[in-house]
Amino acid sequence: MSTPNLTEKLVEIEKLNHSYQDANQSKQVLFDVTFPIYAGTNVFLTGYSGSGKTTLVSLIGCLRSVQTGSLKLLGEELNGANENKLRDMRRKIGFVFQHFNLLDFMSIRQNVQQSLELQADFSPRKARIRSEEMLDMVGLGDRVNDYPKALSGGQKQRVAIARALVHKPRLVLADEPTAALDSTTGREVTTLFQSLAEQLKCAVLIVTHNRRVLDVADEILHMEDGRLGTAVGEQLSLVFPTLSDNQLRDIANQAQHRTYYPGDILIREGDVADEFFLLLQGKVEVTKKNSNGQHVKLTELNKRGDYFGEMGLLQENALRAATITARGEKEVAVLTIKKEIFAKMVKDSRLTKALIKDEMQQRIEENLRSDGSESPQPTPPDIPIGERS
Ligand SMILES: Nc1ncnc2c1ncn2[C@@H]1O[C@H](COP(=O)(O)OP(=O)(O)OP(=O)(O)O)[C@@H](O)[C@H]1O
Ligand SMILES: [Mg+2]
Repeated sequence: MSTPNLTEKLVEIEKLNHSYQDANQSKQVLFDVTFPIYAGTNVFLTGYSGSGKTTLVSLIGCLRSVQTGSLKLLGEELNGANENKLRDMRRKIGFVFQHFNLLDFMSIRQNVQQSLELQADFSPRKARIRSEEMLDMVGLGDRVNDYPKALSGGQKQRVAIARALVHKPRLVLADEPTAALDSTTGREVTTLFQSLAEQLKCAVLIVTHNRRVLDVADEILHMEDGRLGTAVGEQLSLVFPTLSDNQLRDIANQAQHRTYYPGDILIREGDVADEFFLLLQGKVEVTKKNSNGQHVKLTELNKRGDYFGEMGLLQENALRAATITARGEKEVAVLTIKKEIFAKMVKDSRLTKALIKDEMQQRIEENLRSDGSESPQPTPPDIPIGERS
């Protein structure tokens, strides 16, 4: 994963609404959508069919006009932009679509070269060389004179990727780029796309239904009926791939999204444990009082998907063994799951239970290494919750 630049926003969307005019009635499909895309990040957009993903992507891609709200692309406001401006802005980004959208009457080199021909500093000779280099990077250096018809689905999508990246855009939009491919090819194409985007330092917004590709995301957004929310099920499935779709849906429905500010305390040592926490964004510090009553830092958690608070939940009325405080500059966003729901999750899924136990064991070992002064329990507590019938 690239190191995201969290200071520069390539896209800044605020309270974006969109409606389609159908016959003589208007149907709103986007509601108050607000989010940024930072330079160099991988943002995934998920959501059910008809939830508004393509509409959103087409607005960011200047393929439609903004109706209400603000959408800034590369610093330029698109609300009120005329056709010329939209066309100019469109040329600055890259697109990858589900159905490849290659032109059948052009060779694959010509298809790729098209993106360069639209650039202001176009030179035919350089464009040709650059297109061939780019096709080489997607593994099609020996096919540059072939026509799309002669290629497989995966190869066509590689051409589309070369076309999307050849002019080194700062942002690439991909709308279900793997939907028409089998899963192995889809995974290969996505991996290639990600690594090239990283090399060329461009941010990507990918619409996908494929949970297996989500682990490379810097951010996962979820669209539901035209509104943007946290992709709770997807986030959980990354951390606990052992949960079934039904379990994920049940837990996602009952999880809460919460935000803390640097300095806020999420968990206080000595309190009764009542919730499980999954980190979505930001950084937290884990501290524990030593025998002199001083707070000693045990560790820091800062990766999306890090979780905490499970130890106290796995024993009846256990007290929190450490304090967890929000740190860093950014807000800390978490998903929280109530004790009873967490207990049910562990009870219903033996594999999830094993996974958590394993993680706990590792943490205990880490704590023992980093904090020789006090010895926490040497083995993870057995997991009694919910096992009594
Ligand atoms: N050109 C259009 N005219 C009228 N309604 C439209 C148009 N395009 C999309 N819609 C409607 O807007 C809603 C959102 O559609 P959109 O294509 O953005 O969804 P999506 O999340 O991309 O779905 P999918 O996963 O099936 O691609 C749907 O109800 C759809 O029927
Ligand atoms: Mg769509």
